Formats: sequence, C-alpha cells, structure tokens
Amino acid sequence: MYNLDLLGQDVSQGEITRDFDFSALSRWPEPEADNLQGSDATDELLLDTADILSALTRSNGQDELRIVTLNDGFGALSLPLQQFARVNSLNWTITVWNDSLSREQAISNNANHLGLPSPVAAQLKLQEVVSGAVVILIQAPRSLSELRQLIEATALAASADVLVLVGGRQKYLTLSINDVLGEYFNEVRAGRARSKSRVIAATGKRPLPENYVSAFPVRSEPKTLAAIPLKLAGYGATFGGTNIDPGTRFFLETLKLTFGDSAEFPDSIVDLGCGNGTISSFFPLQFPKFSGRMLATDSSRDAVAATQETAILNNVADRVVAVRDDAMSTFPDKSEELILLNPPFHVGNTVDPNIALKLFKASARVLKNNGELWCVWNSHLNYKHDLNRIVGPTTEIARNRKFTVTRSLKRA
Ligand SMILES: C[S@@+](CC[C@H](N)C(=O)[O-])C[C@H]1O[C@@H](n2cnc3c(N)ncnc32)[C@H](O)[C@@H]1O
Repeated sequence: MYNLDLLGQDVSQGEITRDFDFSALSRWPEPEADNLQGSDATDELLLDTADILSALTRSNGQDELRIVTLNDGFGALSLPLQQFARVNSLNWTITVWNDSLSREQAISNNANHLGLPSPVAAQLKLQEVVSGAVVILIQAPRSLSELRQLIEATALAASADVLVLVGGRQKYLTLSINDVLGEYFNEVRAGRARSKSRVIAATGKRPLPENYVSAFPVRSEPKTLAAIPLKLAGYGATFGGTNIDPGTRFFLETLKLTFGDSAEFPDSIVDLGCGNGTISSFFPLQFPKFSGRMLATDSSRDAVAATQETAILNNVADRVVAVRDDAMSTFPDKSEELILLNPPFHVGNTVDPNIALKLFKASARVLKNNGELWCVWNSHLNYKHDLNRIVGPTTEIARNRKFTVTRSLKRA
C-alpha cells in the first residue's frame, strides 16, 4: 500500500511546511523562554514524510482523510495540515490528542490566532480519537511506555491500512521504538536523518487476538512507604509509572515524622501535580485524623487517570477527587489551606525552572492567608529563595543528600 522504500531518499520540503509560519506558534499557557520553541525540525520532517508516503498534497476535494496527530506539542503538526486543507478546500479531518492539558490549550490558542478551528479532540478516549484514522503522526514521547500506549490504541482502532509515522530528535531515538512498532505492524522502516531528526514509518497492522487485553493501566505489587503498603497504577504517560518517586518518598517520610499521628488537617488537601497518586492515597491511609478529601490535580490525562485507579486499588477512592487542570486554574483564589507539591523540573527533554515557578505562583494564588505550601525539591535547584519571594516565609524542614523539604506560609 505504502512504498516505504521512498524513505531511502532524502526528504525535501513540501508544500504543507513551506507555506506555514512555524514561528507563529506560541507555547502559552506553558512557560515561554528563548531556548523553548513551539516547533522543531521533527515536526517539519514528519509532515514532509507523510506527504511523500501518502501523497497528501495530491489529494482532491473529494478524498475524505482522517489524520490524527499525537503528542503534537503546540500544533506544529496539526495546524499546518489544517491550514493546507482549508486553503485547498480539502475534506480532511485533523484531530489532536495530547496527554497534557496545557499543550492542548496551547494548540487551541494557536489555532484561534491563525483563524483555524481547534483540532483538539473532544473525545476522552484515545481509541475513539484514532478510530478510522489513515495517517497518524506522532512526536516521539519521552517514555517508551507512552509510545506503547499510543501504538497499542492505533493497532486496536485505526484504519486497517493506517500509516504511522513516529518522529524525534535523533539523539533521543532508540531501536526500542522500532521494536514497539514491530510488535503491532508488519513493516517498520526508518527514514534518513534531516536536521538532526528522523522519522520511523510503520504500516500493515498485525491482527490482534480477539481476547487481547490492553497493557494499561499497569498495576504494581504493593510497595511500602513509611510502613504503609501502597498499590500504584500507571498509564503510559504517568510520571514515574508505578514507581514511588524518590523525592516523594523523602517528602512523605518527612511529613509523617513532622505531623505525627495526632495532627489536625483541613477538610481538603491539594495534591498538586499528582502523578500516579502516591501522595493522594498515602495521606488518608497514614493520617487517621484526616477525614477530608484529597484534591488531586495534574495537567496530564494519564496522571489523573492513574491517581483515580491508585485510589481504587487502595480503597480510598471516596477520599480522592482527581481533576485534570493546568496549575489549579479552576481553583478559586484563597480557597485552600494546604497544598503538597513535588514540582517537575523538566519540560519534555529540557530542564526548565519555569514550570515549578508557575506552580509556586498558582499556589500563592490558591492558598488562604497563612495557608501552607509543603514542597520537596532536588536540593541543587535551590528553590527556597523563589518560594520566599512568591509564596511567603519558607522554612527548611528536612534535607538529605538529594532532596529538601520546605514549608512556605502564604503571606497575608
Ligand atoms: C515530579 S512529578 C510528581 C508526581 C507525583 N506527585 C509524585 O510525587 O510522584 C510532577 C507532576 O506535575 C505535573 N505537572 C506538570 N505541569 C503541570 C501543570 N501545569 N499543572 C498541573 N500539574 C502539572 C506533571 O504532569 C507531573 O505529574
């Protein structure tokens, strides 16, 4: 169906990328910085490769085409396609599915600025989004597990003759990506590198057994955290999978020692950036005097789903409310008394302090006067000054070789 031998040639720039202004893509509401762009050379290579293999630019107005872009950071895959389809009156449906809410918001904002409809999927389930797709473009996610989840859903629901293209910066691509694709597709071929990026193509879906059971969520055997046995669940993009993050381990051991068994707690406690839900399930299990609810929140779809699943596994589902939200944007000002946070310090593959600062600012907004932000961070990041400045007086509660735990009091 597709001639993957074409990948043996250099891929030149095609019409879709030539006519699109990639510099117009903003990362907002994600933090913006000079070293962070809204697109990279991989986006252009993916689009140009898709055009060569499936002759996108030779489509005519009658051809109905369902194209899906996955992990499309800021719309650099979907929006050039949309613009091309609009200018040429093509009957294409382009849909984006992204784990991160802030990235989906960035794509909708960018679409709006370009006068295009938002391509962000209304459906919540990945399989519904890829259902019937004939071309799927994927910016290789950071983890293999996330890629596996995307490819598995594609194998389960996309069109029988789907073409899947996975692209990435060469230094991050490994042969394991080909292995995952090879589990679900008969033909897998890597293209030539261009501007330090490469694309791997897969076609020929392998039939899956009728009783095929999805590999997700992954559930772990009980792990012990401060003497509490904890079961954890993880989806493909959940931070840490089903592991207890070492910083979180130190954080919760410190909170256990500091609060003791008789501590009093407010009616709700926010688990900001909840990941796999370790903190949200641990709290009700560890502190019998806490009778309120954990408000777990994360911008990652797979974090929210994992937190819910983790709470079910630990029989505390009635105590944990998990919400997908960007930096608590839906929480009212001065509404909470206690926020727990293990902030991320990576954006994709780049170390970026701005995301932690964004969560500190959000905490300062959401905390009541004298409310508390408890935080764990890699000591070398030295956030104490930022916490003092953004939230209020910050005290170091504990420190080990790697991590520091602080308490910040919201300045009135
Ligand atoms: C270092 S992980 C901590 C996860 C979990 N609390 C734990 O302790 O294992 C940070 C989490 O922050 C989330 N995050 C990143 N940006 C966010 C944002 N803008 N709003 C909410 N959560 C965010 C990430 O998805 C990730 O799950």
